[in-house]
Amino acid sequence: MSVFISFEGVDGSGKSTQIRLLLQYLDEQSVPYVFTREPGGTPIAEQIRRVLLDPANRGMSVITEALLFAAARAEHVSRTIRPALEEGKVVICDRFVDSSLVYQGVAGGLPVEFLTQINEMATGALRPHRTIVLDLAPEVALARRTGEEADRIERQSREYHQLVREGYLDLARAEPRRVKVVDASRSVEEVQKDVRRLVEEVLPRRFRGAGTRP
Ligand code: TYD
Repeated sequence: MSVFISFEGVDGSGKSTQIRLLLQYLDEQSVPYVFTREPGGTPIAEQIRRVLLDPANRGMSVITEALLFAAARAEHVSRTIRPALEEGKVVICDRFVDSSLVYQGVAGGLPVEFLTQINEMATGALRPHRTIVLDLAPEVALARRTGEEADRIERQSREYHQLVREGYLDLARAEPRRVKVVDASRSVEEVQKDVRRLVEEVLPRRFRGAGTRP
């Protein structure tokens, strides 16, 4: 079956909660899936993640950032994502190439063609069948954040996060069949209902549940 689904959104958009509820639902439906996240998903990629998110690395240039994300992704695709897809699993990935296009490209100022190129190399041009963008104003997302300390990227300015949001909306306009925007300002249940519907649309028929109860 091999279905590859990615989740995207500004920091604090409720992505983790929505993914957790989706995975519960996939368990109930006995859908064989693998859940993974970026940056990370393999031991080497998790080490690169620590370098990327460490607030002590404040001076990192955006090119270094982009290359490290792509390096972590190359590991992740070859060791985790492709093998799972080859086993016929559904792969649910928390962030993928679109995060680089939007964070390092639209918000960070690197040319999108450069990012597309290094990421095609890193992934062997693998693309998700469906990408769900949880859309939320960055001010609201920021206010939702609870106690934990902000990582290096979360400490970027309000303008940076606004560009991230707009970058995702532009991607959805450019690729409307793959990239679907969900209004994440609503209740957890309402958002989850849309998430399940958008996931079910790309699952093989036998795994489409009778309902989309949250
Ligand atoms: P994480 O703690 O996983 O954030 P979240 O739970 O919001 O996904 O940190 C990932 C951070 O890295 C997040 O701020 C987005 C950023 N990022 C990029 O800038 N480029 C990328 O290619 C990826 C995968 C993530």
